[in-house]
Amino acid sequence: MSVAKIIARRRSCRAYTSAPVPRGHIEQVLDAARLAPSACNQQPWRFAVVTDVERKRTIIEQGFRPGLSMPWANHAPVLIVLGMKKSLLVHRAAVAISKVDYPWIDIGIAGEHLVLQAEELGLGTCWIGWVKPARIRRLVGWPSDVHPAAVITLGWPENPDAPPPQRPRKDLSTLVTWLAES
Ligand SMILES: Cc1cc2nc3c(=O)[nH]c(=O)nc-3n(C[C@H](O)[C@H](O)[C@H](O)COP(=O)(O)O)c2cc1C
Repeated sequence: MSVAKIIARRRSCRAYTSAPVPRGHIEQVLDAARLAPSACNQQPWRFAVVTDVERKRTIIEQGFRPGLSMPWANHAPVLIVLGMKKSLLVHRAAVAISKVDYPWIDIGIAGEHLVLQAEELGLGTCWIGWVKPARIRRLVGWPSDVHPAAVITLGWPENPDAPPPQRPRKDLSTLVTWLAES
């Protein structure tokens, strides 16, 4: 499948079968994330893989913020916590000078590599950003210098042949500034 087709097919998946995801598939999506580019090749991403039913439930109950109801996440056989470890020099110093927050860009790229690799394997994913990072850090046992930024659910979509319609996207004409050639 071409990259274009994978990108066009991907949707946030919020309905999963109970079938487990083989370890090899999980490793493959993590490896796709690992290969992402990053500022100064700092590779700030970290991952925690959660498959245990009770641990998943605890993360969802205690680590997701109230207001957005996400009980469907319990049906995802895998939760991947996406974390960010900032380096002192490149991240804090360079970000202070340039005002460009490189590690956030980096982990966004890594997360989307993961998501697109999952799509190629027929797996569904959904980014979850409505979380309590400090609580999730404690639950996954990460040290204080690793910041949990998001959770990505992973599993086999309940309706692979009838994905939800694409949510509306802004038109390129409202997004792009074409500068005239001089
Ligand atoms: C950084 C980020 C955080 C998100 N957080 C949530 C979330 O907390 N809960 C949720 O159900 N969806 C979440 N989403 C999914 C978005 O709602 C979804 O990507 C968007 O509506 C577009 O739909 P699509 O992914 O099906 O194309 C998040 C997506 C991103 C990229």
